[in-house]
Amino acid sequence: MRIGILTSGGDCPGINATIRGVCKTAINHYGMEVIGIHSGFQGLLTKDVESFTEKSLSGLLNLGGTMLGTSREKPFKKNGVLSDVNKPALIEQNVKELGLDCIVCIGGNGTQKTAAKLAAMGLNIVSVPKTIDNDIWGTDFSFGFDSAVSIATDAIDRLHSTASSHKRVMVIEVMGHKAGWIALYSGMAGGGDVILIPEISYSIHNIGETILNRLKKGKPYSIVVVAEGIQTDGRKRAAEYIAQEIEYETGIETRETVLGYIQRGGSPTPFDRNLSTRMGGHATELIATGQFGRMITLKGNEIASVPLEEIAGKLKLVTEDNDLVIQGRRMGICFG
Ligand code: F6P
Repeated sequence: MRIGILTSGGDCPGINATIRGVCKTAINHYGMEVIGIHSGFQGLLTKDVESFTEKSLSGLLNLGGTMLGTSREKPFKKNGVLSDVNKPALIEQNVKELGLDCIVCIGGNGTQKTAAKLAAMGLNIVSVPKTIDNDIWGTDFSFGFDSAVSIATDAIDRLHSTASSHKRVMVIEVMGHKAGWIALYSGMAGGGDVILIPEISYSIHNIGETILNRLKKGKPYSIVVVAEGIQTDGRKRAAEYIAQEIEYETGIETRETVLGYIQRGGSPTPFDRNLSTRMGGHATELIATGQFGRMITLKGNEIASVPLEEIAGKLKLVTEDNDLVIQGRRMGICFG
């Protein structure tokens, strides 16, 4: 059997560990041939590929980014490379010419949508969920999330000491796209006093009251964690907008930090390395047993899979009954 593997969309820690998990299992355990496809679906359109051997897979477990390169190419949209050709048909033809029996697609929500469409065309596809945002439907966690939360938590820890020294309010903006998972998990782990996520609406008055109440209790500084996707005036970044509103509301000196791409860079945590390895291995197992059109999932502590058409196009958002939200509220953390 000859399989192709690609990584698409924004990068994150754990992609290389997943590539390693898929390919080592394929080569060592199942005796398959593996072809690496460069730059996501773009490489499938231009046949930009390389043949993998055991040697190509060295040093990947703790390596950040993706050794295959990535792109945001969406072959079912008429833009990007080769915008004048029928891209799905070209992919079908290239898959035949490359002799690929299956393609492993590692990516976020956009990738899952494309993977589902390719599977519906009759191509053999197995996908693995990848994103720091943790917003892919059907899996409890995607790899990359734990690493991003760990980096964001470390940043919040560091803001505590400078906030305390200067008696300031510190606002930190973390990523997450339309979801608040990174803000919720890093905000709780980092001891945030206010945590704002897109899924829960907020009032600046409530946030100001929380901060002023802390002042009355002898706590002259506060940490505010905001997700990039929260509602703002539409002109400023979330952190800048919230910091200005808080300073206006409370009169307390307020500073903002935007963590940015640091959250997506560097080595995966041990949790993400093992999740990637398990998900990668399971993807290869599905291929070996002829189970296509499926995305790998983590449910509880079990690695399983779901049909791609069941999850494609759905976003997994934080809900009010999330246990971290409930527990945070009980401890006096303001969610808005
Ligand atoms: O989906 C991952 C993510 O890092 C989001 O959290 C963020 O909004 C987005 O990608 C940034 O995308 P880009 O790499 O295109 O700037």
